Amino acid sequence: MTRDRLDFPDNFIWGTSTAGHQVEGGNACSDWWAWEQKGLIVDRTVSGRAMDYWNRHEEDHALMAKLAYNGFRLGIEWSRIEPQKDLFDRDAIEHYRRILQSLRNHGFKICLTLHHWVIPRWVADQGDWLNPDTINQFLRYVTFVIKELGAFPDYWVTLNEPMVPAVMGNLVGHFPPQRHSIRAYRTVSRAYLRAHAEAYHLIHKLQPLAPDGTPSKVGVAMAYPWIESWNSPGLAGWYERFAVFIARRLASLAWDHTIQTGKPHWIHGGPAIAGIQNSYDYCGINYYTRASLKADRRRRSQYWIDDTQAPEGIKVTQMGWQIYPEGLYRTLRSVWKRFGKPILITENGIADDTDQQRPCYIVEHLAQVHRALQEGIPILGYFHWSFLDNFEWREGFAKRFGLIAVQHDDPNLMRTPRRSAYLYSEIAKKNALTKEIVEEYAPQAAYVFSSGVTTIGNPKKMAI
Ligand code: BGC
Repeated sequence: MTRDRLDFPDNFIWGTSTAGHQVEGGNACSDWWAWEQKGLIVDRTVSGRAMDYWNRHEEDHALMAKLAYNGFRLGIEWSRIEPQKDLFDRDAIEHYRRILQSLRNHGFKICLTLHHWVIPRWVADQGDWLNPDTINQFLRYVTFVIKELGAFPDYWVTLNEPMVPAVMGNLVGHFPPQRHSIRAYRTVSRAYLRAHAEAYHLIHKLQPLAPDGTPSKVGVAMAYPWIESWNSPGLAGWYERFAVFIARRLASLAWDHTIQTGKPHWIHGGPAIAGIQNSYDYCGINYYTRASLKADRRRRSQYWIDDTQAPEGIKVTQMGWQIYPEGLYRTLRSVWKRFGKPILITENGIADDTDQQRPCYIVEHLAQVHRALQEGIPILGYFHWSFLDNFEWREGFAKRFGLIAVQHDDPNLMRTPRRSAYLYSEIAKKNALTKEIVEEYAPQAAYVFSSGVTTIGNPKKMAI
């Protein structure tokens, strides 16, 4: 059986997603900025002026509106608001107010992230999240933002992917502050849990209503890589399954368990966290890829695991990440089962400088979103990562995630929509994936209109 179109619900949000540090530029007071100066970025760049979104936001918002996107996720930087301890920068907050007002004027749904990995340099110098003062200082910044800008967000993201900096910065040492310490990882994770719980309640207390008059909606944008074993034979296979068990918990299950039950998971340890249970009004899902964990005795610093290999026949992106759309469907199901809360896809996207793979990637992932919607899972919207090419953290500018191409070394930082930008625009305009659109932009993905092709077996047997 074939269908002609996959319709999405009325009021579905067709958004794009960004983070302050990756696009704004010129934020010299942050820990990442300082870290970049050490020459540690893979392509030897530094974030510098990034995409100059700080100054060019109006032009960018006009472009989004022209493309009929109706939502935008952006981050606000603590290091701009409080560049020095106790010094709150009025100009910065007024600047953010203008950005948010401009988004409001265009009628976009606004999703605002309060913390996307980056902290002020003075917080890093005092020992970042290991320092017990940091949580209260973070909450003071959050309070300031709610009081000043609380009227704008339709959705709040307290923290972006908290387990990524906890693991990458404290356990495997790939991000600042480059620790290799289980103890630090646990302390930082607990600090993030507390920071989220307190920020959640602060928002509800100080800004009880969203712009549409309904209660404020607060959540976390959580990274849900789909993690599986490589299934090597013998002892290696056993180690891989053990690694999968741990990695799933490190990535999301331990965090989710604490939000669900209110009791810290053993991976994080520590006493009960006040106010953490059920501290989600919606679930934010960031989904990109599947990781197949393969035992490798040469990778000591990565706990003898290689997560960079793809099984035969599976395509990979410019990041080397597996393209695995079913993982999004599986994640939607498991998160829905776990929390029973509405879902916002806060990130999904692909590094692809030539835009050869992106159209298919978008169509295949949206087909999986549609599949989940059809099963009754309440998905409110989809924010594609990213609107613009941007500073991809440790990878620098070489990895291009944007619907809109921007060459970081172009003096004019010209914005050039890729074909995918128009594809996404057509989908947003029709509020549907239609055969015509897919045949024009991503003919290889036309199979999504045959019902049944996306079936993956008995969902009850799914691992997570
Ligand atoms: C992060 C983004 C990042 C993207 C692609 C997500 O984990 O939230 O900041 O650019 O993945 O790597």
